[in-house]
Amino acid sequence: MKVGGVHYRSIWRDADSGEVRIIDQRWLPHEFKVVTLSSLDDFAVAIRDMWVRGAPLIGATAAYGMAEAIARDPSDANFEHSSKVLNATRPTAVNLAWALERCRAALMPLRPEDRADAAWALAHEVFEEDIDINRRIGEHGLALIRDIAARKPAGEPVRLLTHCNAGWLATVDWGTATSPMYHAHEAGIPIHVWVDETRPRNQGALTSWELGVHGIPHTYVVDNAGGHLMQRGMVDLVITGTDRTTAHGDVCNKIGTYLKALAAHDNGVPFYVALPSPTIDWSLGDGVAEIPIEERPEREVTHVLGMSEGRICDVQVTPEGTPGGNPAFDVTPNRLVTGLITERGVCEASAEGLTGLFPEKVA
Ligand code: MRU
Repeated sequence: MKVGGVHYRSIWRDADSGEVRIIDQRWLPHEFKVVTLSSLDDFAVAIRDMWVRGAPLIGATAAYGMAEAIARDPSDANFEHSSKVLNATRPTAVNLAWALERCRAALMPLRPEDRADAAWALAHEVFEEDIDINRRIGEHGLALIRDIAARKPAGEPVRLLTHCNAGWLATVDWGTATSPMYHAHEAGIPIHVWVDETRPRNQGALTSWELGVHGIPHTYVVDNAGGHLMQRGMVDLVITGTDRTTAHGDVCNKIGTYLKALAAHDNGVPFYVALPSPTIDWSLGDGVAEIPIEERPEREVTHVLGMSEGRICDVQVTPEGTPGGNPAFDVTPNRLVTGLITERGVCEASAEGLTGLFPEKVA
């Protein structure tokens, strides 16, 4: 998407130097910084410390990280080492394991001397595929927004709510939950987005930044506001992203998503999840029991990062020594999900719904 008139992706390989560049999201929305990742360690730190984040972007970064590592040393031993290092960075988004598995299947059968070129080509393939998947999610999600708009008086905005950042920053481009919003905006359908702040890391500020840059009306609200807004009839549609969705349609996403789904259910508000197929973990059924939930540092909870007098700094919000608990994701059971917006269309959040769209996955 465009920033200051220039079309950026959240990760890319520079055509001249061959270097991999990312937007370093630690400083957004306050500062827009591009950095180069040039070693396996750089890629691992960038994922672990959330310079890049969001399930699809984590997958794409892992694919480029493997290419960088294999270009230096294409041996079996280095493949195994690099894959292990990257796999250990973050546990919840299944796109990471998906990308590493895809590298294994494509590269390990090759002779070591043929692996580097194939690894760069594969990373580029993952990059291009992600853009295409998200564009198609946007087209399918647009139909939902269009339907709601058609039932409203002309000119009245469709009021959406989203949690975390499942925007273009969390993918290579378009975003998942935001893609239908960008498509609706481009189609001239008036929308307004309630953006949950998403403590502790405030990824909602990234979503606000994205939407602001694109001129989409939005309001940043505290995480606890969603239930109230839905109760007052101020939300027409919730769309969130997902980090891992089970074969039964249970959805794991940023902490707090489950509470939004409960509130939506209680108030009859449709709750949709934008789901690129690489985010489906076909090996899992019961998400609550089986999906690993990342525990992040307590400092993210006891402190808040922000901008003060032109400087980015973090301030403590708790008494000295208060322990902070930081589960980063939660699971929304399929019964609370109205539908899944995939690149192949919208389906019910169930085994039948998913296999109907992805019949090749039926064992
Ligand atoms: O911890 P994060 O910022 O990586 O979590 C991101 C999310 O939870 C997103 O909603 C999810 O990855 C979907 S991104 C298209």
